[in-house]
Amino acid sequence: MACTVVVDGFFGDTGKGKIVSYLAVVDGVAVCARAGVGPNAGHTVVKDGKTYKLRMVPCAFVNPETRLLIGPGVAINPEIVLSEAAELVVEGRLGLDPQCAIIEPKHIELDRTGDLKGRIQTTGSGTGPCNADRALRSAKMAREIPELKRFLSDVPAELNKALDEGKNVIVEGTQGTYISLYHGTYPYVTSKDVCASAACSDVGIGPTRVDEVVLVLKSYVTRVGAGDLPGEIAPEEARRRGWDEYGTVTGRQRRAAPFNFELAKRAAMINGATQIAITKLDVLHPECKGSTRFEDMGRASREFIAEVEDVLGLPVTLVGTGPDVMEMIDRR
Ligand code: IMP
Ligand code: MG
Repeated sequence: MACTVVVDGFFGDTGKGKIVSYLAVVDGVAVCARAGVGPNAGHTVVKDGKTYKLRMVPCAFVNPETRLLIGPGVAINPEIVLSEAAELVVEGRLGLDPQCAIIEPKHIELDRTGDLKGRIQTTGSGTGPCNADRALRSAKMAREIPELKRFLSDVPAELNKALDEGKNVIVEGTQGTYISLYHGTYPYVTSKDVCASAACSDVGIGPTRVDEVVLVLKSYVTRVGAGDLPGEIAPEEARRRGWDEYGTVTGRQRRAAPFNFELAKRAAMINGATQIAITKLDVLHPECKGSTRFEDMGRASREFIAEVEDVLGLPVTLVGTGPDVMEMIDRR
């Protein structure tokens, strides 16, 4: 697998966390670097019956051998970093770049008032105001925070060295293509570009180093916060279909719509996807729950995967069939 970038082809919450943690375990990933905006993202990982909600630590933590890094492009909340690192017992293998921007209480306050809260319906985690300060050259950097000293590491240097040595590396994207500041439904977007090229920049690797871009698509589409969602169904209908989900960070009920081929195709283009991961197929077709072999799935499941491959012109290499990390069909 060498260097794999994992990104989201819809509006976030497609299940990147599960894909990253699966790859970390089965491919013996040496280094996983988290890219993206910051603790506005919540990645869920279910391993051995335990559910983890991660806002800062990379999802590859489930492999105890994996080095966990957060790239300089990411805004960090020191409190969340410290509490997650302690809770997950990953202190010894977590590295933060000295140039990560620091979210301060004033950023969180700003994010929970006015237009950001009212019109955009942000997560209120302070990432947007922090990135605004970064652009104004007034944000604090991780290197200025004594409590973070022991974690500081040159993330681009570590990652590029691992690649030079032929090790397997994952770049963990966050959010989703259609909430990218550049490619999403502006102004109802997050505060940075979050597509594959931006993820590489966040962690300090150049485009020539990337071998695979895995585009993660959920079997239906969800969106939290304001902005257009084509084909949106009513919240009661979402509940009836089992598509009702609640935000990892905010607890809000996510809005829902059927799988969207047009959005998926454009996301594959913008991210330069080389393969597709389909998640939560068991929610759409309960018969496939827990399957680990393509041949064992029912006809409707197999036809859906074939249609995705046909429309996108890309192989569907991974299919999620349940919440646990190992409930996965791997066709690579
Ligand atoms: P912000 O990123 O907190 O500024 O929020 C801007 C928009 O992006 C809001 O609609 C949020 O709900 C959405 N958003 C931000 N991060 C995530 C995420 O990780 N998953 C899903 N939506 C997100
Ligand atoms: Mg999420």
